[in-house]
Amino acid sequence: MTPTAAATHFDVIVIGAGPGGQIAATRAAQLGFSTACIDDWKNAEGGPAPGGTCTNVGCIPAKALLQSSEYYEIADARLAEHGIGFSALRVDIPAMLARKAAVVKKNNDGILYLFRKNKITFFHGKASFDSIADGPVAIRIAGSPDQVVTGTNIIVATGSSPRPLPGLPFDETRILSNDGALRLPEVPRTLGVIGAGVVGLELGSVWRRLGADVTVLEALPAFLGSADEQIAKEAKKAFDKQGLKIVLGAQVLSVAASADGVTISYSDAVGATQSLSVERLIVSIGRLPNTAGLLPENAGLSLDSRGALVVDAECRTNIPNIWAIGDVVRGPMLAHKAEDEGTAVAERIAGQHTEVDFNTVPWVIYTHPEIAWVGQTEQQLKAAGRAYRAGTFPFMANGRARAMGDTVGFAKVLADEATNQILGVHLIGPMVSELIAQGVAAMEFRADSEEFGEICQAHPTLSEALKEASLAVNQRALNF
Ligand code: FAD
Ligand code: NAI
Repeated sequence: MTPTAAATHFDVIVIGAGPGGQIAATRAAQLGFSTACIDDWKNAEGGPAPGGTCTNVGCIPAKALLQSSEYYEIADARLAEHGIGFSALRVDIPAMLARKAAVVKKNNDGILYLFRKNKITFFHGKASFDSIADGPVAIRIAGSPDQVVTGTNIIVATGSSPRPLPGLPFDETRILSNDGALRLPEVPRTLGVIGAGVVGLELGSVWRRLGADVTVLEALPAFLGSADEQIAKEAKKAFDKQGLKIVLGAQVLSVAASADGVTISYSDAVGATQSLSVERLIVSIGRLPNTAGLLPENAGLSLDSRGALVVDAECRTNIPNIWAIGDVVRGPMLAHKAEDEGTAVAERIAGQHTEVDFNTVPWVIYTHPEIAWVGQTEQQLKAAGRAYRAGTFPFMANGRARAMGDTVGFAKVLADEATNQILGVHLIGPMVSELIAQGVAAMEFRADSEEFGEICQAHPTLSEALKEASLAVNQRALNF
C-alpha cells in the first residue's frame, strides 16, 4: 500500500502496527481523529506485513503450528480409541508451513483492509522521532519515499524482540528465536530449548509432537513460577508423560554451535556439569522492548533499565501527548494487554477515562493440556495474608471431557473466605483457552463464587467443570 501523499499532519500518529498499534489507530479513527499508522515489518517480497510480532512470528503462526501438530498427534496416538485407524500417516512440513504462511498473510491483508475501511493512513517504513519540541511532534519515516509527518499525539507501539543469550546472536539456522523456530524446514531429530516459559513450552510442544526429541533447560528451580503451583505441578506431570524433557535449575555455562549442531554445557540443580548436544537450539528467555533507532539522543523520553519506555498507569510518557503501549512498556507482554492499552489511550486522547486492570488480564499457554488463568494464584494470596477458600473439579469427572477422551487437568476457583468474591480462576485441561473467558467475566463483575456456581451451564460442556469448581469452594460440588 502506498502512503497518502497529501496528508502530512495528523491528530494521532501510531508507531507500530502490532496488536497494540493497530487497535489504537482503529479506535482513534473511530473517535474522529485523523490518524496515521507507521510500521516497518516486511513480508518475503519486501511489502508491508502489518500485525507485528503477534501476526508474523508470534501468536498466530504459533497457534497455526500448534493446531497442525496437535491434529497429527491426535491422529497418531488418540484416534484409535475412537475406533478410527489409518493405513499410513505422514507429516508434510512444507505443506504445514505453507498453510501457516497463508494464515499469516490473511491476517496481514485483513489489517490493511481495516486501515482502509477506517480511513487510517498507513506508512510502510521505520519511524523515528525527528523533533520533540513544543507543538506538533515530527516523525521521520525511512521508507520509499523518506518523509516527515507531524502529529499532535503520538502513540509508541513498537513492541519487543527476542532476548539472545549474551554472546550468542540468533542465526535462525542453529540458534533460533521464535522466528526461526516457526519455520524449520524439517523436524530436527534433537531440539534443545533454553527457557521453559511460554515460547519454550509452546514451540517445544510443536516439534515434540512432530517427532523431535526435545530437552528444555530452565534456569529456575521451580516450573512455571507465575502459574498457580497446583496447576504448574499438573502441567509438569503431563509434559513429563508426553516425553517433553524439562530440566529445572539448569545454568547454561557455554554454547558452541557448528555446522552440524549445537552443544550446550550447563550445571544442573546439584551443581554437576552436564552437556547436551542437539541439532538445533531455541533460545526463549524473554523479550526486550524495541526502542533502538526510535529516539534521538536528546529526546528526553525516559527508559527503564530494560530499555522499556517509562509510562504512568495511563500509558503517558514523561512528555505530554506522547503515549506508549504494549510490549514496549511495563506489564505483561500479551497481545490482548497491548490491544486494551491501545483502546484506552485513544479514548484518553478523546478525553474519556478508560482503565486497564492487569489483575483481570488472562494468561493462556496453548500446550496440551492447555493452561489458563486470571487473577491471583494461591501462593500470591498466601503471601498477601488474604483468607480464601479453594474449590477444584477434575475434567476426569466431566461428561464432555470423557466423551472427547480428553480428561487430564482440572478447574480451580479461589474465593475470598468472608465474601465469596472470586479472586482467581486457574484451569488446566481441554480448550481452557476458551473457558477462561468466563473466569475473566466473573472477576470483572466481581462475582460471588456461589452465585457463579448457580449459573445454568449447558450439558454436557467443559463449562460445567468451572461451575462445579465454583460450587466446590463451599463444598457444594454436585458431581464429585
Ligand atoms: P508488536 O506485535 O511487537 O508490534 C510492534 C510493531 O512495531 C512491529 O510490526 C514492529 O516491526 C514495528 N516497529 C518497531 N519499531 C518500529 C519503528 N521504529 N518504526 C516502525 N515500526 C516499528 N501474546 C498473546 O497474547 N497470546 C499469544 O498466544 C501469544 N503468542 C506468542 C507466541 C510467540 C512465539 C511470541 C514471540 C509472542 C507471543 N505473544 C502472545 C506475545 C505477543 O506477540 C506480544 O505481546 C504482542 O505482539 C505485543 O504487541 P505490540 O503491539 O506491543 O508489539
Ligand atoms: P518467558 O518470560 O515466558 O520465559 C522465559 C523463561 O526463560 C523463564 O522461565 C526464565 O526463568 C527462563 N530463563 C531466563 N534466562 C534463562 C537462562 N539463561 N537459562 C535458562 N532459562 C532462562 O519468555 P518467553 O517464553 O521468551 O516469551 C516471551 C513473552 O512472550 C512471554 O512472557 C509472554 O508474555 C509472550 N508469549 C505469550 C504467549 C501466550 O500468551 N500464549 C506465547 C508465547 C509468548
